[in-house]
Parts: sequence; structure tokens; C-alpha cells
Amino acid sequence: MTVLQVEGLGVRYGELVALDQVSWSVAAGELLGIIGPNGAGKSSCYDAVTAMVSHAGRVHLRGEDVTDVPSHRLPERGLKRAFQQNAFFHELSVLDNMLAVMHDSAGSSLLSSTFTPWQAARRRAQSIAQARSVLERFGVGPEYHDRLPTAIPYGTQRMLSVALAHGAGAQVLLLDEPGAGLGGEDMDRLTRLLHALKRDGLALVVIEHHMDLIMAVADRIVVLDQGRCIAIGTPAQVQRDPAVLEAYLGRAA
Ligand SMILES: Nc1ncnc2c1ncn2[C@@H]1O[C@H](COP(=O)(O)OP(=O)(O)OP(=O)(O)O)[C@@H](O)[C@H]1O
Ligand SMILES: [Mg+2]
Repeated sequence: MTVLQVEGLGVRYGELVALDQVSWSVAAGELLGIIGPNGAGKSSCYDAVTAMVSHAGRVHLRGEDVTDVPSHRLPERGLKRAFQQNAFFHELSVLDNMLAVMHDSAGSSLLSSTFTPWQAARRRAQSIAQARSVLERFGVGPEYHDRLPTAIPYGTQRMLSVALAHGAGAQVLLLDEPGAGLGGEDMDRLTRLLHALKRDGLALVVIEHHMDLIMAVADRIVVLDQGRCIAIGTPAQVQRDPAVLEAYLGRAA
């Protein structure tokens, strides 16, 4: 079942056409990869989908046209995004970062004032248990929960970014270079996480420069170059597509 569908996306920054007539869709349990050289328009694609820039084209979430839904109202509909750079509340512990994003999505701040103290305490204990379990599911072990995000290993910071984007739940998760700066062991962890999220039925869109990673986890791949979609297909199909080889190799040669 298609969860997110974008049609004819276009983004301009003044004279520069960052994205032009780009269309794709992603289904539950599917991972759509987005690749392309630097500046190809990959992050702009997410900016358009999440209404962070003015854009052409339409966005449908579970069949509903959400093109005009403001950015901050999309997470509550299950569309969530992680940014290319790690984005944490730097002064909060890892656990409190997770509680903050979960609290945000639950919108429980108004409700909680109507609870008796013991109800509020029980609710808080439940939230903490849930936050810890989400963190662990995303590979952020309990030994890190009470530390500041910047005081944990870089590989675990990247996992934390994905965990925070997901928060208490998501139907579509847009990840922007989750593997940036990762090597060996950390890359394997990320690969396993992405497979697990797919199995859980999440619709995933992953921008990535690491070809090994994206070829291993993607069901289909969109290739962007200079704002245009130059290929779309399975990893095997795009790998032998002459236009893709030209975009990656032709210009570097
Ligand atoms: N806010 C902005 N103002 C002006 N130009 C921008 C802005 N954001 C992006 N661009 C330009 O739009 C084009 C596409 O940028 P975008 O960030 O979408 O590329 P990308 O494929 O994500 O690249 P990278 O792999 O380097 O992250 C680039 O030429 C970039 O310089
Ligand atoms: Mg980018």
C-alpha cells in the first residue's frame, strides 16, 4: 500500500532550479533510496515534501492531499523527518531528548494538568519506559541514556538522530544521509536497523551517499542529478543505467 506519493515536485531558490518535476512514491514496508551527486536536490526534495520551502507539485499521504498542510502538522499525521546534521537538544540528556520529542507528538502537556499527582507520576514512569524502549530499539543502549548527546560515540549519535525523528511512532520516515561519517561496525548496525524498520511496516525514504548501504537496503532507488530524476528502479537496474554512470563517473572523469 502506497503511504507517501509525491508528484511533480519543484523547488527554486531565486534563479536556481534545485528540483524539477520529481515524482516518486513509497509503500509500507518499503525502503526508497534517493541518491545523486552533491547539490543534486536530494535534501530539497525533503524540504518540499515537508513544506519547509515553497514548491510546485503535490504530496499525498495515505491518499490524502497534504500539500498545503503546514510543516509542523505533518508529524502528527505520521510523516517524520531526520535532518542531514544531527539535531539534538544539547543541554538535555539522551533520555530527555527522547521524552521531549515524544511529549511533543503526544501533545499531553494540557491533559496532564488534569491528572492527580499519582496519575501524573505513573504516566511519567510509563513515558520513561517507552522512551527507553524506543532508544534501545534504535540501537542507543541504556548506558547512554543519562549522558548528553554530544558525549556519546558518533555512531550512536547518528542512531539517536533516527530514533528522535521516529519518536513515539511514524508511518513514513525521511532520513537524510543517516550513514554520514559511519564506518564498519556502525554501518552494519544502521543496516540492521533499517531492515528491522522495514519489517515493522514503516515506509522509509533514505538519502545516502554510501552506495554499499543503499544498494543493500533499498527496494527501489531514485537517482537525482541537477534537480532532475534521471533514473528510478531497483538497485540492480540503476547500477547499470548509463545515465547514472554518466552522472557519477562522466563528470568526475
Ligand atoms: N536555502 C537555499 N538557498 C539557496 N540555494 C540553496 C538552498 N538550499 C539548497 N540550495 C541549492 O540547491 C541545490 C540543491 O541542494 P540540496 O541541498 O537539495 O542538494 P543535495 O542533493 O541534498 O546535496 P548534498 O549531497 O550536498 O547534501 C544546490 O545547488 C544548493 O546549493
Ligand atoms: Mg543534502
